[in-house]
Amino acid sequence: MLAIAASDLHKSYRRGATVTPVLRGADFHVQVGEAVFLIGPSGSGKSTLLSILGCLLTPDSGTLEILGRAVETLSAREATELRLRSIGFVFQRFQLIEGLSALDNVCIPLKLAGWPAGKARRRAAELLERVGLADHLRARPGRMSAGQCQRVAIARALALEPQLILADEPTASLDAHSGQEIMTLFRALMRDHQVTAVVVTHDPRIFSFADRICEVVEGRVRAAEAVA
Ligand SMILES: Nc1ncnc2c1ncn2[C@@H]1O[C@H](COP(=O)(O)OP(=O)(O)OP(=O)(O)O)[C@@H](O)[C@H]1O
Ligand SMILES: [Mg+2]
Repeated sequence: MLAIAASDLHKSYRRGATVTPVLRGADFHVQVGEAVFLIGPSGSGKSTLLSILGCLLTPDSGTLEILGRAVETLSAREATELRLRSIGFVFQRFQLIEGLSALDNVCIPLKLAGWPAGKARRRAAELLERVGLADHLRARPGRMSAGQCQRVAIARALALEPQLILADEPTASLDAHSGQEIMTLFRALMRDHQVTAVVVTHDPRIFSFADRICEVVEGRVRAAEAVA
């Protein structure tokens, strides 16, 4: 069964008269339970592809099915629900809310999903413990290291036990040990809950966690040649 079926995706960015083509007929298929890593040069379109897969950005053309749903047929509300309930997104720049504590940041998706406050806080605390931040529940992003912020972002992405994890450079700000820990956590979740993951990374230290590595080149996705 496929978790992701993307065919012939095209996406250009337009600024005034300038058009930057980024995706040019990208095909990308991922089986349920598979961990696929995406590599490729800076600016090749990895984050753009991930945003499209996460229903955060609409392609100019092409077809996309995520977890069996044809994305172009979804209403805005259905797309939001799919994103909230089924997709955990770890952004390249964390996207944490500065004025909120680590705990409150992780509570956001739980509250959006209608969890009562007490239950949400218990769940958020448990997630933060799992990513090694039990001592930082009250800390604000501005007072945490990049690696700690990254872990808060990961805890938030996992809050609603998504079926699909999309992570943009999730270990870029982590030391080797924390990077291995986070990937081990991802893999444990994937094994226990049939979770699928697409991970953009430049980090060869985590390549061994991938089932398959693909490369974004000239707006298309292809199997990566021996990288490790
Ligand atoms: N919102 C935007 N508006 C205009 N151009 C954009 C926008 N976002 C990205 N681009 C351009 O699209 C291209 C692909 O960007 P993207 O962020 O997808 O690359 P990437 O592969 O993730 O790069 P990196 O490895 O540096 O994160 C780049 O040339 C970038 O400048
Ligand atoms: Mg990027």
